[in-house]
Amino acid sequence: MTPVLSILLCLGLCLCKRTRTQAADELRKPSLRAENSSLVPEGETVTLRCRASWEAEKWKLEKRGESGWSQIKSVRGAGDEGEFSLLSVTSSNAGTYRCLYSYCLYKQGHSFSLWSECSDPLELVVTDLSPPPSLAALPSSEVAPGQNVTLQCGSEQWYGWCVLYKDGEEISRSRTQRHERGRLADFFFPAVNLTHDGTYRCYGFHSSSPYLWSSPSAPLVLRVSDAAAQDYTVGNLVRLILAGLVLILLGVLLAEHWKSSRGQPIQGVLD
Ligand SMILES: *[C@@H]1O[C@H](CO)[C@@H](O)[C@H](O)[C@H]1NC(C)=O
Repeated sequence: MTPVLSILLCLGLCLCKRTRTQAADELRKPSLRAENSSLVPEGETVTLRCRASWEAEKWKLEKRGESGWSQIKSVRGAGDEGEFSLLSVTSSNAGTYRCLYSYCLYKQGHSFSLWSECSDPLELVVTDLSPPPSLAALPSSEVAPGQNVTLQCGSEQWYGWCVLYKDGEEISRSRTQRHERGRLADFFFPAVNLTHDGTYRCYGFHSSSPYLWSSPSAPLVLRVSDAAAQDYTVGNLVRLILAGLVLILLGVLLAEHWKSSRGQPIQGVLD
């Protein structure tokens, strides 16, 4: 909306609670985020929050479609945060969103309302729409620092892509390769260190629908530590020491017994 049009629409209607002056002309771009996570399992509710650094009057949520952006929702509400709930999401809710807000400006004796810039786009992914892939660690999920590890995400569902998550955050995505049964993607981590320790999951999706994902794989816990090797050595050492002590004790007992049986001949014979 152009400023002139805003002024016309706003004549006499715009009741600024707080007046702003020219200093307000700097960019006021809101930010859009999904509460909790932008990965939403089908059927669950997600709240999108549009945050402004400015007092707003009205908020708009737009979604990108084949023919550009279109308004999905609009809410009234003062304050610096607008809230949009998407109830019981389905695959049709997946996609790219942005938000903007209207605010009131007081300038040269007039108040008029303007629309802010649009937020950066937010990609909302709906998950749990197809069977999960499986995730495996090669050669093992318990490795020492410096070892190479490959996390392998595979499925018979012919997903074109696999996305790898670590402790709730995406860390990598990769095209899958054809395999004997279905397709799989390898995520190679050379010379792992302690920062690779954590819980991993992967998702699959088809190239034609990048916002419609499978259920997550079962969690894979990768343990990077030399504790396993140490435990082994320490355990063996303890066992060796214990065995030694037992031997010494046995030796002492035997020696005592030998001494006492030699020093004190059988009493019955002497009496
Ligand atoms: C680990 O991977 C690197 C390649 O990144 C390779 O040169 C090296 O030989 C590998 N080490 C082991 C122990 O397999």
